[in-house]
Amino acid sequence: MSERYVLAIDQGTTSTRSIVFDRSGRLVAVRQKEHRQHFPRPGWVEHDPEEIWANTQLTAAQALRDVASAPGEVVALGIANQRETTVVWDRATGRPVLRALVWQDTRTGQLVEQLCARPDAGIVRERTGVEIAGYFAGPRLRWILDAVPRARERAERGELLFGTMESWLVWNLTGGPDGGVHVTDVTNASRTLLMDVHTCRWDPDLLAFFDVPAAMLPEIRPSVGVLGRATALPVAVPIGGLLGDQQAALFGQTCFAPGEAKCTYGTGSFLLQNTGGELVRSRHGLISTVAYQLTGEPVHYALEGSIAVTGALVQWLRDGLGLIGSAAEVETLARTVTDNGGCYVVPAFSGLLAPHWRGEARGLVAGLTSYVTKGHLARAALEATGWQTRDVVRAMDADSGLTRTALRVDGGMTTNNLLMQFIADALDGPVVRPMVGETVSLGAAYAAGLAVGVWSDTEALRRNWHRAAQWEPRPERVTELDAEYPRWERAVALSIAWGAPA
Ligand code: G3P
Repeated sequence: MSERYVLAIDQGTTSTRSIVFDRSGRLVAVRQKEHRQHFPRPGWVEHDPEEIWANTQLTAAQALRDVASAPGEVVALGIANQRETTVVWDRATGRPVLRALVWQDTRTGQLVEQLCARPDAGIVRERTGVEIAGYFAGPRLRWILDAVPRARERAERGELLFGTMESWLVWNLTGGPDGGVHVTDVTNASRTLLMDVHTCRWDPDLLAFFDVPAAMLPEIRPSVGVLGRATALPVAVPIGGLLGDQQAALFGQTCFAPGEAKCTYGTGSFLLQNTGGELVRSRHGLISTVAYQLTGEPVHYALEGSIAVTGALVQWLRDGLGLIGSAAEVETLARTVTDNGGCYVVPAFSGLLAPHWRGEARGLVAGLTSYVTKGHLARAALEATGWQTRDVVRAMDADSGLTRTALRVDGGMTTNNLLMQFIADALDGPVVRPMVGETVSLGAAYAAGLAVGVWSDTEALRRNWHRAAQWEPRPERVTELDAEYPRWERAVALSIAWGAPA
């Protein structure tokens, strides 16, 4: 039998990647293109949806061409996407009314304060499982509808459409103004504040609360299931899977059992734990979210700890301070010393997300003495990622009550052995990295491949998961870090206090 391949599109915050996988989950082709980041005002972050669409077409066509000579065929397409990034476009022309408002954009701060102050604000938490926050798509959509002249009335007439990136791409891939399919999946919809997380339907009361017309919303579908053909690509592959990128990584890491968790270490880091068929409401600052839904099956939920700045702190050491020439050098520099020299870095560059949710917090370096060298700073910067992981995992343990299994990690920072060992020690639990590090794309490919029968079930996917590296906690270090943790907590408290009004 000739090989069957699956194409995954990972539409991320900085770039769009098209990757082709074979049945054993191995990479066969990879193409990538970065897009421009627009910062029109402090705190505003925008992407051009048309540029992203062009990059998607380009990289997907290139990847399809790369495998054209291999015997076999590409039988499905899956999409994983940066979540919460919001696009509104004209159904007739396909032109966005504004650039996309990116998940990092903080312009809705004041609007969110007003919404939180409303007497009926409690329904948002009750129906969505999370607090109102500018991180989610709903407030951005509301902002666009308020800011663009006549947008709300046009949306009511069905002339304008809303979507996060996967909706925008599917609509364009399936024909755009000529019959494009307007859909989203349960994971992305769970990040809008507009969906009832129990029924997985748009909720009329939430739409009224945010003043969003139902006519502009995509249809909510399971994460796995064929929803159309990508007629805009050189090969009209069936689109079989949609997942928010962090849920895709959970899927690609095959965390299908309650308690299994993964953390993706990029510019920020996102730790998700599968909580099974039960929605766990967080009491400790985490997000309750949809993990995935297979066709015809109930929804699986997850608890998520979103950390805004991890790898971005290393980038700042490189670009902001010039302490290192490349991100990889941070480990070499940190290894010039044996400890952090009493120094703690809290990278609250634009506030703190989970588990604190303090937008006003600001970054700080605590514990400086003349003894501290750049080596100590590098070590403290890496440790900040470890401490933040510990903050989130502690909250998760308290919320879910599930037995924690080894933390599955992926992302750029996981090649840093010093950091991975620190995380194992700080969590007092093993940390494992799989052979295929492209877990976001792999998860999207798995979802699409399940839809068309490339893989029979999730057990078949589990058999593809192979360990590349494992870090075990060292009892002595665990005890030392337990004793040290309150200092980190003090540093975090100071960073929050610093941002408070004087
Ligand atoms: O919630 C935002 C997240 O989905 C962004 O992920 O990897 O595109 O930065 P990434």
